[in-house]
Amino acid sequence: MTPSVASVLGTTVPIVLAPMGGVAGGALAAAVSEAGGLGMIGVGYADADRFAAELRVARGTRVGCGFITWCLEREPRQLDLALDHDVAAVMLSFGDVERFAGRIRAAGVPLICQVPGRDEAGRALDQGAQVLVAQGGEGGGHGTRLRSTLTLVPEICDLVRERGDPVPVLAAGGVADGRGLAAVLALGAAGAVVGTRFAATAEATVSAAALERMIRARGDDTLATRVYDDVRGVNWPDGYTSRVLRSPFTDTWDKAGTGRVPVECLVEATARYRDGVRCDDPDTIVVTAGEAVGLIHRPESAATVVQVMAAEARAVIDTLHGAPV
Ligand SMILES: Cc1cc2nc3c(=O)[nH]c(=O)nc-3n(C[C@H](O)[C@H](O)[C@H](O)COP(=O)(O)O)c2cc1C
Repeated sequence: MTPSVASVLGTTVPIVLAPMGGVAGGALAAAVSEAGGLGMIGVGYADADRFAAELRVARGTRVGCGFITWCLEREPRQLDLALDHDVAAVMLSFGDVERFAGRIRAAGVPLICQVPGRDEAGRALDQGAQVLVAQGGEGGGHGTRLRSTLTLVPEICDLVRERGDPVPVLAAGGVADGRGLAAVLALGAAGAVVGTRFAATAEATVSAAALERMIRARGDDTLATRVYDDVRGVNWPDGYTSRVLRSPFTDTWDKAGTGRVPVECLVEATARYRDGVRCDDPDTIVVTAGEAVGLIHRPESAATVVQVMAAEARAVIDTLHGAPV
């Protein structure tokens, strides 16, 4: 029998904070865990000192952490830090988990693997993943964008069942309220990994300008690009783009619609980006968000998001009992 998310991750509501690098720090992770979900610190591109500082912020509360796998390969001691800290779970995204899976499992820490497709899900199961996260392309941040949540989640659930692997599947991408949570439960998921919705909470480490833009944005305002990777000098492997809010900056530097800053413009674009960051210029800064941004109308506390999302999902499920099918 497949263990419940509650038994693997220690949650009372099936909501997991996406490990958003630079946005989900110790304060946000602790707030989500205290509300009954599981908070995950997003290690992202942070160095070990910064990660240790975020772990200290969450001290006393059970939180997990999530790594960008290809970044962890460059600084593997980050995993020692996480395991020494006895984190509640480790999530690996964007890359081959083989190098790290054994150590995480040997430490008795639940291994969560976020996957963008069926092949990656199969490989994660081969490596002993205890929770799979099916990541649809409508979500915020990096991904391969080849699949949408609506079809990927049931396909991964079927794969898990066919293989006889007792592993719960979570859905990531597009869940921002109780309707989304109820929808992914209907698809067979055991819960949701939520990024964008939590990025617009009081505890997220986003700037005032970024928060303001998220509250005003609609789902049509996002695009998948590598423009911000280019100006920040972050060399993502081929095949990945990041979903962000479209801005005058992306319009200016991705004129050709290739998703890349032309090489001959890189120096100038990088200088403009750095200037914009210094003064928190809303037209320039990166605001990483998925299509679900159009469902966010005000900043709230993380605890309110967890509680309202869970209550709304229960209400939707009750209503569906009378659905005309
Ligand atoms: C601001 C932001 C930063 C993100 N950074 C990371 C990251 O560092 N590592 C990671 O595994 N996923 C990251 N993601 C992707 C999430 O793990 C998740 O797939 C996504 O947020 C789910 O879709 P949603 O944004 O619609 O909730 C990020 C997402 C956002 C919105």
